[in-house]
Amino acid sequence: MGGPAIEIQGLEKTFTGHLSIGRIHALRGVDLSVPRGVIYGFLGPNGAGKTTTLKVLTGLLRPDRGTVRLLGAPAGKRDTRAHIGFLPETPYFYDYLTGAELLRFFGRLHGLGARTLDEKVPALLKLVGLEGRGNLPLRKYSKGMLQRAGLAQALLNDPELVILDEPMTGLDPIGRREIRDLILSLRTQGKTVFFSSHILADAEMICDEVAILVGGKVVQQGSLEKLLGSDVRFWDVALAGCPEETRGWDGAELITKSGDQMLLRVELEGELQSLLDRARGAGARVVSVAPHKASLEDLFLSHMPGGDA
Ligand SMILES: Nc1ncnc2c1ncn2[C@@H]1O[C@H](COP(=O)(O)OP(=O)(O)OP(=O)(O)O)[C@@H](O)[C@H]1O
Ligand SMILES: [Mg+2]
Repeated sequence: MGGPAIEIQGLEKTFTGHLSIGRIHALRGVDLSVPRGVIYGFLGPNGAGKTTTLKVLTGLLRPDRGTVRLLGAPAGKRDTRAHIGFLPETPYFYDYLTGAELLRFFGRLHGLGARTLDEKVPALLKLVGLEGRGNLPLRKYSKGMLQRAGLAQALLNDPELVILDEPMTGLDPIGRREIRDLILSLRTQGKTVFFSSHILADAEMICDEVAILVGGKVVQQGSLEKLLGSDVRFWDVALAGCPEETRGWDGAELITKSGDQMLLRVELEGELQSLLDRARGAGARVVSVAPHKASLEDLFLSHMPGGDA
């Protein structure tokens, strides 16, 4: 099966809203191409249309217009589905089942035999950090544990393409790091991971490429290097031992001052050198110089209403 992992063209979807709202245009012509073997972040604010797109990809919703190809084949083909794993946004599981029973249930749906599941289920529970919890009913799981069980479910069929809707939601910082590491290990195994998120820091740490969806349209997509660039946007300079009468220096913005300590910000490299020279000349000590590059968050906010894009 050749072609990109995911190829979406001109995807449109409207929902019939409440009378007072009228029709909701959730997707307004989404175009997207996800190469194989990458970790791809599908980012956007609440209501941008991320879940709607993922539901169309996984065949849970029919689009009004547009085409979707997964692993080189039109979406919805049965044998393609066997190579895809999916974690829905709010997974609903029968909560009287234990974690292990849940995985065995879904495993049987995938056509896996009892022997295979005897090995696979404990291995998957361990992989997602639920080792020793497999015999606990799901109603006793915390939100983070349910999320992990959902992830294990998405990996049961050893999928080539893993589609995850907000995989880090509901997890504490340690849990988020574990899931990030798990996603990275999936890429090492040659899988493609396509996940939606509004936790930008997580996406920034692991994604090779991202698309930013706002109001049902992709406003930017590409490699993080390309989107963020490597330019420093500004430097923060911390000084100590500043003479009492100093209120700052020309060309530098004073962020805070406390006693003889000051934090200043400069935007140009020339200004940085001149500030350091003048501060030292006045008897101040340079405590630190911190360069700040553009973050994904800056990029994201620039596309929001009121942003500067
Ligand atoms: N079944 C539905 N009926 C009516 N409107 C819907 C339905 N599903 C989604 N919508 C609307 O479509 C838009 C996109 O919703 P969607 O759930 O795809 O956003 P999202 O990007 O996943 O947001 P979040 O970050 O909050 O999960 C929203 O305006 C939402 O209210
Ligand atoms: Mg969503």
